[in-house]
Amino acid sequence: MPIIFHKNTKEFHLYNDEISYIFCILRNGQPGQIYYGRKIKDRESFQHLIEYSLRDMAPCTYEGDRTFSMEYLKQEYPSYGHGDMREPAYEILQEDGSRITEFTFEDYVILKGKRKLEGLPAVYTESDEEAETLEIYLRDRVMNTKIILSYTIFENLPVIIRNTRFAHEGESSIVLERAMSLNLDLPDDRYEMVELTGAWARERYVKTAPLHEGIQAIYSMRGHSSHQFNPFFALKRPETTEDAGEAIGISLVYSGNFLGQTAVDTFGVARAMIGIHPEGFSWTLKKGETFQTPEAVLVYSGEGLGKMSRTFHRLYRKRLARGYWRDRVRPVVINNWEATFMNFTEEKILKFAETARQLGVEMMVLDDGWFGHRDDDTSSLGDWYPDPKKLPQGIRGLAEKIENMGMKFGLWIEPEMVNKDSRLYEEHPDWVIRVPYREACHGRNQFVLDFSKEEVVDYIGDRISRILQDAPVSYIKWDMNRSISEAFSQGRKAEEQGKLFHRHILGVYRLYERLTSEFPEVLFESCASGGARFDPGMLYYAPQCWTSDNTDAVERLRIQYGTSFVYPLSSMGCHVSEAPNQQTFRNTPLSTRAETAYFGCFGYEMDLDTLTEEEKEEVKEQIQYYKRIRKLIMEGTFYRLISPFEGDEAAWIVVSEDKRHALAGYYRMRQPANAPLKRLTLKGLDENLCYKIKETGLEACGDELMRAGMAVSDYASGIREKKERQGDYQSRLFELTAQS
Ligand code: GLA
Repeated sequence: MPIIFHKNTKEFHLYNDEISYIFCILRNGQPGQIYYGRKIKDRESFQHLIEYSLRDMAPCTYEGDRTFSMEYLKQEYPSYGHGDMREPAYEILQEDGSRITEFTFEDYVILKGKRKLEGLPAVYTESDEEAETLEIYLRDRVMNTKIILSYTIFENLPVIIRNTRFAHEGESSIVLERAMSLNLDLPDDRYEMVELTGAWARERYVKTAPLHEGIQAIYSMRGHSSHQFNPFFALKRPETTEDAGEAIGISLVYSGNFLGQTAVDTFGVARAMIGIHPEGFSWTLKKGETFQTPEAVLVYSGEGLGKMSRTFHRLYRKRLARGYWRDRVRPVVINNWEATFMNFTEEKILKFAETARQLGVEMMVLDDGWFGHRDDDTSSLGDWYPDPKKLPQGIRGLAEKIENMGMKFGLWIEPEMVNKDSRLYEEHPDWVIRVPYREACHGRNQFVLDFSKEEVVDYIGDRISRILQDAPVSYIKWDMNRSISEAFSQGRKAEEQGKLFHRHILGVYRLYERLTSEFPEVLFESCASGGARFDPGMLYYAPQCWTSDNTDAVERLRIQYGTSFVYPLSSMGCHVSEAPNQQTFRNTPLSTRAETAYFGCFGYEMDLDTLTEEEKEEVKEQIQYYKRIRKLIMEGTFYRLISPFEGDEAAWIVVSEDKRHALAGYYRMRQPANAPLKRLTLKGLDENLCYKIKETGLEACGDELMRAGMAVSDYASGIREKKERQGDYQSRLFELTAQS
């Protein structure tokens, strides 16, 4: 039983072979945090770890006792007031204007497995034996409101999953103004905060900064998880490296506004929390109503950031991503976007597909521009009817022709959006999120449909569903290309407005749920101007996501490396595009572009007819190569070897579960003159197995490769004859196969 309750001391201990999470019910009935980290043996009481001591100026709970102050106690789900002056996990506005609450322990329940969350994406179990869930019931007797804190611990993963539910049973309404998914009070602040930050075309760069007194936060207030910050952060010890030391990863399974922060008080306590961003959020609860927060995933690693990431990968690949495609290798696609933009005809697409087919591509994806009269980005979003000028026989006509060629057909949609120049906007201007009597920003000339309204979601759902019923569409690229900038739901009452952001994202989830259930064998790839919604919430519906609009191989090394902090290779859409690259104007070898893109869901995003015969032959070989190794990429364990954020090189390796097969990628951005000698040390191999390396013919055992490494020095300059892989932006692959 990985969850123990000690009745006498009112302490809960959640543990498995790797971690312990211990908290108690404090004297005032509120839950107090005791320990989270590497597993420790259970005992009746850990109360001695809670420090009660007299501190001047402290607001104290009990008369005659100056040692019990919530200001200094570590808590599970703190409020403002009753002594605690730090950032609260929740805030409730009551009818009399007060915000003081007092939630005290009432009961608990331990369940096998894990509950589903209504309307929200969530980690799941496949059998009840995989995990146990503890629910703690707290009640505020004045408001007559319940808080249910939920904790799931997995049997075989160093993971705790938390969420919070509010159930209001009182007569007077209350307003939730803040409702974090998770709060974790850590007993010291000797941590660095690791974040994934960026912008369009440079998503998820790894940034690390030491904690300091005060608040360090990541957030989105854009209505989606954003390019700028990912809903993830880690707290690591200053000495923690990729392979050693403590790291705590915190990830939110949500695609809307979020706040992730660590507040360090002046007594060295670090309070970490993550959840829906309180800005613009206010949720009225009437008698009998409940509010469910998204869930947050807490990963503990005592073996560096690498182990933290591998834990996220295992969990998210197998117990968050779902459905038909979860365990299947993904098709090699060709996407026409960077080759044609919106300027195409059926004939052009068929030609494009035919060349790709001859080279081994399995699916043709038709991107933006196929509907309404969309020749540029000023029109037609919302009018999901094929443009007869471009597609005389509609989507069905084109899709059938593609299928007859022996390929699958995929389609781009952007269901949450509308252009002013569209029939949908003309008919339903009130379906747009904006304040009707004020100016509203456009983003890429488009506006966001109000998915908090059921009729809007149903209308768009019907349209898209009709297309998928009518034509053999095997893949959907679901795009989302702007933020919400004037949050207002037209026609709704004032007290409903604070629900818009969350309801909107619930509407997005509802549409995803509908379409993925109606078309379970369609492969969905999420996308948001590249990777602006690369988050765990999306992964629950779409097992892969377009990683970035930046397809330059050098930039992609950083982007894919950063993305791998949380997300598995099976979730990263990675395509080879033309050179010079459209985003960076950089010229990289075709081999480097492919050898970077292999580490994800592979495809091409270029006009293959512009290639020379020799290059086409190279593409053909690349596709054959990927087909041979894609199972390893999808299912293997990923180890980062060299960070592209620290120098001029990058390297990583993916190792099969039985450790008999592995593929390492080594990338060098700039050719150094008279290059230093270099060994690459590998990870994740079986030290007792001997491997043969295909590209070099070397035979060596795992222990040697992981300790002594392999020589991968560059050719010295001064060599006159032309050698392969000289110059800038070069890559090398090493495929390892165990012998006997
Ligand atoms: C976004 C996507 C691109 C492409 C365009 C189409 O930017 O990220 O891949 O689909 O939209 O408009």
